[in-house]
Amino acid sequence: MMKANITVLPGDGIGPEIMSAALQVMRQVGEKFGLSFDVNEQLMGGCSYDAYGTPLTDETLQACYEADAVLLGAVGGYKWEKLEHHLKPEAALLKLRKSLGLYANIRPAKVYNSVLDDSSLKKEVLSGTDFVVLRELTGGIYFGQPRGHDREKGWNTMVYARSEIERIARKAFEIARLRKKRVTSVDKANVLEVSQFWRDVVAEVHGDYPDIELTNLYVDNTAMQIVREPRQFDLILTSNLFGDILSDIAGMITGSLGMLPSASVGEKYALYEPVHGSAPDIAGQNIANPIAAIRSVAMMFSLSFGLSKADDLIEKAVERTLAQGRRTADIFSKGLTLVNTQQMTESILENVETIFQSEYAEKLTL
Ligand code: IPM
Ligand code: MN
Repeated sequence: MMKANITVLPGDGIGPEIMSAALQVMRQVGEKFGLSFDVNEQLMGGCSYDAYGTPLTDETLQACYEADAVLLGAVGGYKWEKLEHHLKPEAALLKLRKSLGLYANIRPAKVYNSVLDDSSLKKEVLSGTDFVVLRELTGGIYFGQPRGHDREKGWNTMVYARSEIERIARKAFEIARLRKKRVTSVDKANVLEVSQFWRDVVAEVHGDYPDIELTNLYVDNTAMQIVREPRQFDLILTSNLFGDILSDIAGMITGSLGMLPSASVGEKYALYEPVHGSAPDIAGQNIANPIAAIRSVAMMFSLSFGLSKADDLIEKAVERTLAQGRRTADIFSKGLTLVNTQQMTESILENVETIFQSEYAEKLTL
């Protein structure tokens, strides 16, 4: 059996509960595909601030450098909102992304038929939606210099180096190649020079990928198009700030933020985390939706360990569980079965077993 080192950062709020769910699925599925795990658990976020006075210690960062993959629950909460900028849990997340060089953030927005009714959009508009937001994660206005504020003004800088645009554009075309081969690059080139430059560089890189269709859209128009006709998109490529905003829109239309996973990858490291936040209001009650965290583990199987079969198995088990009517409170509606975090997890684990026995076990031994 192969062994992988995973650094686990449960974080704050519901982080620890959903992480415990995700780890159960990780171990059970890993075993089926010959992968076992050494888990190194570390503090990060508000809990780290409470224990050590900093949201990200060198020890935690070191543990991430040493891991084959990092799993993150969620960080933040009201409790730490008033801290100075660099002590906030969010600052730790940004530092972690930058230190690990996680320049590509992959956020799939796929709609499950069984939760079509949970969306704020009409079924007819939504059904069949399946796209990915690929967000540049270590550049742009999030990190640009100069930045700051004094009593009279505040400022930030949206800046992109050619090399930063080139590598995220390549990533976009490569992911699109495995999908429907359509990239929509999103910018604000009618107003911002940095966006015009982005558009030019993306077009150059596109020269190496003639089999992929490239379209450019302005970010305001894209926001509108996502709610108007989401099916038109396959892969949305965009910068850090625009991707932050668009991925929340994309997340909402699919019905529940509680179900969306994400992967942040670089040349060397990879980190997987739910798109949703730490939901401090429901923390510790065993009612949070573990699906985003579980599907983040699924992404880890295929992107970090090349086990796309394990990824599929988890996705199918989640889908079947939803089809069986099991729902945590955030996606519950009348006539369905209300379950808590642990029950949802057990149900997914049972489906993992049944689906594996009927669809995978035989083929593996052949
Ligand atoms: C996200 C979050 C973060 C971001 C915050 C918590 C720093 O909103 O991952 O989308 O803005 O990138
Ligand atoms: Mn965000």
